[in-house]
Amino acid sequence: MYVNVSVLKETQPHERRVAMMPSVVPKLIKLGARLHMQSGAGDAINLGDAAFKDVTFFDDRKALVCEADVVLAVQPPALEVIDAMKEGAILICFIYAGKEKALVHRLLKKKITCFAMERVPRISRAQAMDALSSQSALAGYYAVQSGSTHLARILPKITSAAGAIGPAQVLVMGLGVAGLEAIATAHRLGAVVEGYDVRPETEEQALSLGATFVETGVDARGKGGYARELSAVEKAKVAAVLTKHIQAADLIITTAAIPGKPSPKLISKAQVAGMKAGAVIVDLSAEGGGNCEDTKPGETIKVGAVTIVAPLNVPSLLGEDASELYAKNQYNLLALMMKDNIIAIDWEDEVLAKTALTHAGKLCDEDAKPAAKVA
Ligand SMILES: NC(=O)c1ccc[n+]([C@@H]2O[C@H](COP(=O)([O-])OP(=O)(O)OC[C@H]3O[C@@H](n4cnc5c(N)ncnc54)[C@H](O)[C@@H]3O)[C@@H](O)[C@H]2O)c1
Repeated sequence: MYVNVSVLKETQPHERRVAMMPSVVPKLIKLGARLHMQSGAGDAINLGDAAFKDVTFFDDRKALVCEADVVLAVQPPALEVIDAMKEGAILICFIYAGKEKALVHRLLKKKITCFAMERVPRISRAQAMDALSSQSALAGYYAVQSGSTHLARILPKITSAAGAIGPAQVLVMGLGVAGLEAIATAHRLGAVVEGYDVRPETEEQALSLGATFVETGVDARGKGGYARELSAVEKAKVAAVLTKHIQAADLIITTAAIPGKPSPKLISKAQVAGMKAGAVIVDLSAEGGGNCEDTKPGETIKVGAVTIVAPLNVPSLLGEDASELYAKNQYNLLALMMKDNIIAIDWEDEVLAKTALTHAGKLCDEDAKPAAKVA
C-alpha cells in the first residue's frame, strides 16, 4: 500500500514556486507516498526534473492527477485538473475561496477533500504548516532588500577618512509576520528602525528586534489576533502622530492588512508629498490595493522625488526559498493525515478540521467545532 501524491506545475503568470522540493521527496516517501510530478514543475527556479530523485514525471497534467490520492500545488489549479481528479481525492494548495467560486463549485461536485493553505489556523501547533507565515517572512526580508536598492544611500552608519555617514531611518508600518521580518532585516543591515501597528502587543515584539515603537494611542485589536478597521476619528489620531515619522524616513515598508477587506490606507497623498526627496516606500500590501494612496499595484512609480515600489506575489520573486518552505509546510500538513502508508484524516484534529475547505461534497464551516463541521 502507498499513497499516490501528484505535484502540479504552476500555470499562473509570474508564479515561480513549486509545491515539491528535492529535500522533501524522501520525507514523503518515508511516510508512504509514491511521488509523481508534472514535467518542468521546477523549471522557473532552475530545478530540472533530474533534480528530483525517485519521482515519476508526466507531461500531461490530466494523466498526472487521474490516479492521485493527493494533489499538491501552490495556486488554485485549473478547473480541468479538478475534473480529471478521482472523486473523493485530496487537493492541498492556496484557494482563497471568495475569489474562486467556480473552482469551489467543482470541488464540491467531485467531492474533493480540499485543504486550503490560507486556512491553516494561526496557533502554535500549526506553525510548521503555516504557509501564510513562511511566505510572509520571506516577503518582509525582500521588502528591505528591494527598498535599499531603490535608495541612493546605504542603510548602516559608515565612517571613512572623508567623514561619517549616518544610518538610514526605516519605518515599518504593520507588524505581522512580514513587518517583523522587515524590522529584523533592516536592523541587521544597520538602519535605525521604527515600527508601528494598531495591535499594542506588537510594541514588545518590535522592541525585541531592535526597533523603537511609534505609539499612537489607538488599540484596534480585532478577532483571532488580526486587526480591525479604524474609525474616522482613530484614523485622524493616528495620522497626527505618524506624519512626522513618515517625513523623517528614508525607507518605509508597509504591510498592513485586515482579513477580508481592502488594504487600509496608512499613507495619504499629502504625506507622500511631505516626504524626504529620494525616500522610498515599499508597499507589500499591493495585492489588496496598497497601504499608500499613491500605490499602483504591480508597478514602481515616482511621485515627485519619492519612489513607490508595489510588487505583487512577492514570495514568487524568491521562488527557491519560498518553494522550500512551502513544500515543508505541505509535508507537515500531510504528516498529520498519513499513517502506515494510508490516508487517515482525524477530523477531531483542529488543524485538519479548520484547514479543510470542502469535504464529501460539503463546504466546511470555519467557525464550527472540528468534528461537527465535517459530519
Ligand atoms: N502560529 C501563530 O501563533 C501565529 C503565526 C503567524 C501569525 N500569527 C498572528 O496572526 C496575526 C496576523 O499576522 P499576519 O502576519 O497574517 O498579519 P496580516 O498580514 O493580517 O496584517 C499585517 C499587520 O497589519 C496590521 N494592521 C492592520 N491594520 C493596520 C493599520 N490601520 N495600521 C497599522 N497596522 C495595521 C495588523 O495588526 C498586522 O500586524 C498576528 O496577530 C500574528 O501574531 C500567529
